[in-house]
Amino acid sequence: MTSPPTEIKNVLVIGANGIVGTSAIKHLLASNFQVSALIRASSTKPTTFPPEVQVFKTDYTPASLAPAFQTQHAAVSTLSFDGLKLQKVLVDAAIAAGVKLFLPSEFGIDTSHPDAAKLIPFLQPKVETLEYLESKQDQIAWTGLASGSLFDWSLEIPGFGGIDVPERKATIYDGGDVTYSATTIEQVGRAIAAVLKQPLDVVANRHVLVNSFTLTQKEVVAALETVMGGTFEKSYDTVVNLRKVGFEKLEGGNFRGMLELIASSFYGGFGVADFESKGLWNGRLGLGQEDLEGVIRGWIEGRK
Ligand SMILES: NC(=O)c1ccc[n+]([C@@H]2O[C@H](COP(=O)([O-])OP(=O)(O)OC[C@H]3O[C@@H](n4cnc5c(N)ncnc54)[C@H](OP(=O)(O)O)[C@@H]3O)[C@@H](O)[C@H]2O)c1
Repeated sequence: MTSPPTEIKNVLVIGANGIVGTSAIKHLLASNFQVSALIRASSTKPTTFPPEVQVFKTDYTPASLAPAFQTQHAAVSTLSFDGLKLQKVLVDAAIAAGVKLFLPSEFGIDTSHPDAAKLIPFLQPKVETLEYLESKQDQIAWTGLASGSLFDWSLEIPGFGGIDVPERKATIYDGGDVTYSATTIEQVGRAIAAVLKQPLDVVANRHVLVNSFTLTQKEVVAALETVMGGTFEKSYDTVVNLRKVGFEKLEGGNFRGMLELIASSFYGGFGVADFESKGLWNGRLGLGQEDLEGVIRGWIEGRK
């Protein structure tokens, strides 16, 4: 196995307990990085990091962040929900410690698109973090890693994007033929490690788009049918209606309305999720693509 370039050796993963953080740690270790984990002192999640990972606890004050950032060459934020609003403090801590590269928590649609936060209001703190990083890029480099739909995460949520695997039901939106990028949780971890293995000037201060596959909603349902056998019961609706339902839920205080808005950003052809047409980085990062039916087969096996 080749070692990473000397520019980046020590990497801090922030929100390291989460879905993307766990995959990042696994693949960074496999790529020979020296990995540290940052979690909230108040975190209630059980922590099971490999023994070679140094764990830092923080309350996100500058004083409690400083020891974690000391000696790091890169920091990868995988924060979610309200944690996204903490990222400017993290950028400041990274700059103070002389960190070279910061990956903010992205891992979704292309937030460089001007409509990104209109499509999914929850993304506004991500956009603001990137604007902050751009304003500081004379002091620290950044890479916005976009990976489209988190494919196996979405399958885990019955009804997400109209697809209910346990019930074998699918609501197809706008005909289901719009192409979008989707990436497995494993591939996101591989992509994080692959970005950090690049010479800094290759990935600095830009959005990097990766995926596992380019697909349509109809192709996902067809692949589920092939792997599971039989057919899904189908109904049909529009992306406009999907977004209306999402906003109604949010207005009623139901945060899960965000799921409809996320799915609509994949199915709506808004120019935020089809990375093949925008320019995929898989080739430059040495990342293969994955086989849709194979991934679904593995996901089903993993749930038995
Ligand atoms: N494109 C998609 O379909 C898709 C799907 C899922 C996620 N994502 C994106 O991927 C990124 C990571 O998501 P994830 O699902 O891996 O996240 P997650 O597992 O839900 O959470 C990651 C970590 O965020 C921290 N966190 C949550 N709320 C916080 C708060 N209020 N203050 C401080 N820390 C907080 C927690 O860290 P502690 O250990 O400190 O508690 C948690 O372990 C996010 O940017 C998310 O939007 C994209």
